[in-house]
Amino acid sequence: MTLDDIAQVMEVEQQSFPTIWPPTAFKREIRHNRLARYLVAVQRRQDAEESRNGASPEGDPHPSGLGRLVGGLRHILDGDETPPEERNELVVGFVGVWLLIDEAHIVTIAVRDGHRRRGVGELLLIAAIETARLAGHEVVTLECRVSNAGALRLYEKYGFRRVDIRPRYYSDDNEDAYVLSVSDVGTASYERRFERLRNEHRQRCGEYAREL
Ligand SMILES: CC(C)(COP(=O)(O)OP(=O)(O)OC[C@H]1O[C@@H](n2cnc3c(N)ncnc32)[C@H](O)[C@@H]1OP(=O)(O)O)[C@@H](O)C(=O)NCCC(=O)NCCS
Repeated sequence: MTLDDIAQVMEVEQQSFPTIWPPTAFKREIRHNRLARYLVAVQRRQDAEESRNGASPEGDPHPSGLGRLVGGLRHILDGDETPPEERNELVVGFVGVWLLIDEAHIVTIAVRDGHRRRGVGELLLIAAIETARLAGHEVVTLECRVSNAGALRLYEKYGFRRVDIRPRYYSDDNEDAYVLSVSDVGTASYERRFERLRNEHRQRCGEYAREL
């Protein structure tokens, strides 16, 4: 995620969460939080205009959208901000990870409304876990609303287990949060599971480029 991405990240944020982070929070994270890694999934503009509201481009041989998602995941780079209409990429999702001393913590993950159920969220989770593994972490944690069945399914697929509950964690409606954790991401057995899931994802959703 770069400063250029933030206007579009805010669109996704607004569609995804009842209480949103202001753009200044993302800017601060990108510029000043040395422990933070923010990644975006992007769709290149030739397809993005047509699918901004979720419509598949005509004649798309990959109805899931990801086959044409020549998108990439880019690490943070500072730069000048370009107005969203001048961008040639559509941000379709983002994930934020904090690389803490004893664990990697996924602080946020969201996918653009019209692009859900096409594998983008899974792609972002794969990238987040990969980021944690490359940093040498064994443990990855996150919080999730107890009612967020779709997200819980996604996390459980990647080995996250419910290890705690935080009562009334969300201030907008006092909903409880599950704390989920996977504690063996550096092991050979997790790597085998992770590679299998990643290959299945590639076969289902197509290749993507990761730009660092
Ligand atoms: C949660 C979220 C990121 C998932 O993104 P997505 O791109 O729709 O997810 P994917 O298409 O990659 O789904 C991957 C897997 O997750 C599970 N899943 C995701 N959404 C689901 C849903 N609505 N219902 C059931 N399972 C779901 C499924 O197991 C799915 O695999 P499948 O499609 O093979 O069945 C997205 O719904 C979102 O942005 N929600 C709002 C923000 C949010 O809740 N973030 C999580 C905070 S903890």
